[in-house]
Amino acid sequence: MTSLLLLIFSFSLICFHGKSQSVKYQEPEFECVDIYNQPSLHHPRLQNHQIQKTPSDEVLAMLSRETTSQNLLNDEAIAEFDIPEKGCPKGQVPIHKPRNFNYTAKPFHSISNGNRTIGQHVAGIRKIEAIPWRGASAWISVYQPKVHKGQFSMALIGLKTENNCKLNTIQFGWAVDPGLYGDNLPRLTTYWSPNKLHDGCFNVLCKGFVQVDKRLFLGAPFSNISVLGGAQFHTFLAINQYVTTDYKNVDIDSNKVGEDIDIRKCYNVNYLDNFGTNQQTFTFGGPGGLCDV
Ligand SMILES: *[C@@H]1O[C@H](CO)[C@@H](O)[C@H](O)[C@H]1NC(C)=O
Ligand SMILES: *[C@@H]1O[C@H](CO)[C@@H](O)[C@H](O)[C@H]1NC(C)=O
Ligand SMILES: *[C@@H]1O[C@H](CO)[C@@H](O)[C@H](O)[C@H]1NC(C)=O
Repeated sequence: MTSLLLLIFSFSLICFHGKSQSVKYQEPEFECVDIYNQPSLHHPRLQNHQIQKTPSDEVLAMLSRETTSQNLLNDEAIAEFDIPEKGCPKGQVPIHKPRNFNYTAKPFHSISNGNRTIGQHVAGIRKIEAIPWRGASAWISVYQPKVHKGQFSMALIGLKTENNCKLNTIQFGWAVDPGLYGDNLPRLTTYWSPNKLHDGCFNVLCKGFVQVDKRLFLGAPFSNISVLGGAQFHTFLAINQYVTTDYKNVDIDSNKVGEDIDIRKCYNVNYLDNFGTNQQTFTFGGPGGLCDV
């Protein structure tokens, strides 16, 4: 049996100390490559892949009402990306190339589906209804938590499906991960794993994400960062399975969600049913780290 389950969660080792900081780069940190010659299409199973340049009309229509800033409160704004105004030339797409850093495959260490990793904590909301979902979307606040060597902090939405004990998962959000990116900026981050969570990979290091936009790329840094108790910047993220019909938006039913928390006093989630807008809202955070456990 295959079923898609929704997971919305975050990983953190530290507390949320938002700090506004915008680093300007002199040169773009990406390389433009021919859209038909991008890394993912070199994978044997994507050799004859038909690139889908835009989402289907049904998906676009469904998302249109969600993506405007009207969904935000007065003191909230959309987080912009720190990327050049001008994207790649026609027919080419940007592929992230961090400066002075080797961008290498790195496993996603999760505690939500296995043993705990000391000092690593997760807090999230999970859909527990047995009916399959074909997508997920959310507004996520963009922060820049302080992390030390070997640490990372992420806020993600995710979909997973389990089939014959194989876990197929897609995650999408932001990550502050010096081990992955070589700096401390919150960056647009995806993760995909075909069978076990630890077997996956990030962004286009994964031969699975096909880049179609000529400007925004996976790994791009955000330029507006929320400040605790101050300005709030949000980003809208969506993951959708390609479907043409029989597809509709539903809000999460607050009676049909579960929490994924390993140690509540280190890193907790606070569910706010219908807070501010018509949608489900939750906050998460805490001191994280070893936190006396
Ligand atoms: C990246 O890897 C190459 C090849 O292993 C090495 O020569 C280079 O020094 C590395 N660069 C950095 C910044 O680590
Ligand atoms: C968790 O740890 C136990 C005991 O060390 C081990 O037997 C088990 O295989 C581990 N599970 C996973 C998913 O790694
Ligand atoms: C977001 O960041 C951009 C680039 O630094 C800046 O021009 C813009 O004013 C910022 N937006 C807000 C609302 O502060």
